[in-house]
Amino acid sequence: MHIAMIGSGYVGLVSGACLADFGHHVVCVDKDADKIRGLNNGKSPIFEPGLDDLIARNTRERRLTFTSELATPVAEADAVFIAVGTPSRRGDGHADLSYVYAAAREIAAAIAGYTVVITKSTVPVGTGDEVARIIHEARPDAEVAVVSNPEFLREGAAIHDFKLPDRIVVGSEDEHARKLMGEIYRPLYLNRSPILYTSRRTAELIKYAANGFLATKIAFINEIADLAEQVGADVQDIARGLGLDNRIGSKFLHPGPGFGGSCFPKDARALLKTAQDYGVPLRIVEAVITANDIRKRAMARKVSSVFGGSLRGKVIAVLGLTFKPNTDDMREAPSISLITALQDMGAKVRAFDPAGMEQAKLVLPDVTYCDGPYSCADGADGLVIVTEWEQFRALDLEQMKQRIACPILIDLRNIYSDDDIDRHGFFYVGLGRATPDKIVRL
Ligand SMILES: NC(=O)c1ccc[n+]([C@@H]2O[C@H](COP(=O)([O-])OP(=O)(O)OC[C@H]3O[C@@H](n4cnc5c(N)ncnc54)[C@H](O)[C@@H]3O)[C@@H](O)[C@H]2O)c1
Repeated sequence: MHIAMIGSGYVGLVSGACLADFGHHVVCVDKDADKIRGLNNGKSPIFEPGLDDLIARNTRERRLTFTSELATPVAEADAVFIAVGTPSRRGDGHADLSYVYAAAREIAAAIAGYTVVITKSTVPVGTGDEVARIIHEARPDAEVAVVSNPEFLREGAAIHDFKLPDRIVVGSEDEHARKLMGEIYRPLYLNRSPILYTSRRTAELIKYAANGFLATKIAFINEIADLAEQVGADVQDIARGLGLDNRIGSKFLHPGPGFGGSCFPKDARALLKTAQDYGVPLRIVEAVITANDIRKRAMARKVSSVFGGSLRGKVIAVLGLTFKPNTDDMREAPSISLITALQDMGAKVRAFDPAGMEQAKLVLPDVTYCDGPYSCADGADGLVIVTEWEQFRALDLEQMKQRIACPILIDLRNIYSDDDIDRHGFFYVGLGRATPDKIVRL
């Protein structure tokens, strides 16, 4: 099968490399010439575990190539995936579909013979209809089926998720297109990943409903953490007590500084906008967005409360900047709002992240970036863990204590427990785990 992947970012590049690994011939296209130049020189533009090896193997075996010129690979392709960005539109929070529609116009101009055009980008309901209209208007002669095939991979575990997905959603009413999609993903459902065939609009909405639901789980446990803190309960045990119930499940029940990243915030906003356009209230999603926005700055107030409500002149060391571990992605990372709020309150911020500092420097310029967790703590008045990278889970607290000015650890991911930390003489603050003097009894 000949495949053209339009857009070679986190999703396009991983999907393209994995599809090549299944044995398809894939050309990854991106209009960012620097990205393509790097890829052609063996340099991946993103940090994603396992991706460099996957790209190297498939380019060596000539199943995977890269270009910034779209016409030839599209003309030669049986299937063309659109995997371009759909960020929030400035001003109103709708998904900005300009990249998708621009890609559709370019594809229309280049298409030759029966081709299936697949939207892998996360797009609001009805976008597939519009992509089909654009292509048919530009090329009434073209034999095209437009399919929705939303992607559910998680950054940091993207290759695993692409190769072992819980399900593959294919939205199309066209029999030929369904068959072709079945061929593309055949290696996966042989591994028992079910393909769910739906209408195009249904597939588009499944993706938003999934992200809206996961965001709701996170926002829910975050609020329960706040309540646990006040009533003297332990949110870790509550999450376990909830998660052991199979109807609920244990995933996405980890309290934290608020969800971020390139998907949940923008997709929740776009889902809400779509619902408003159709006159359907989605009050749960609305509340989730508000609660999450408020939470990010509330975390800075939590830090300041440890210092008696004032951060003026304090130096705060922040460990972890990316929105989650194992990625360099800083899009809408909670660290951005948190650090900005700490600075607004008068703190100076030092920071370390294993992969995200280059991206972080673009959005957080007034931070002292350090080359490791211990140098980050040098002379600091307190340490805040924002992202739960593996290497922060077993810090040498004796070494840390020698370097930090004041042994305070504020753990916004609950990767330590009071007991671990007390032994080393740190004052420890986690989420949703009250110390007895903090309990308010009514
Ligand atoms: N990142 C994730 O974890 C994830 C997971 C599931 C779904 N998604 C969805 O997948 C889509 C892509 O997300 P991403 O994170 O990969 O974005 P990204 O910004 O990393 O990559 C998009 C790429 O598309 C390129 N591009 C834009 N217009 C183009 C055109 N006309 N021709 C060629 N290249 C073009 C850009 O240069 C960029 O490199 C979004 O809709 C996103 O919501 C993302």
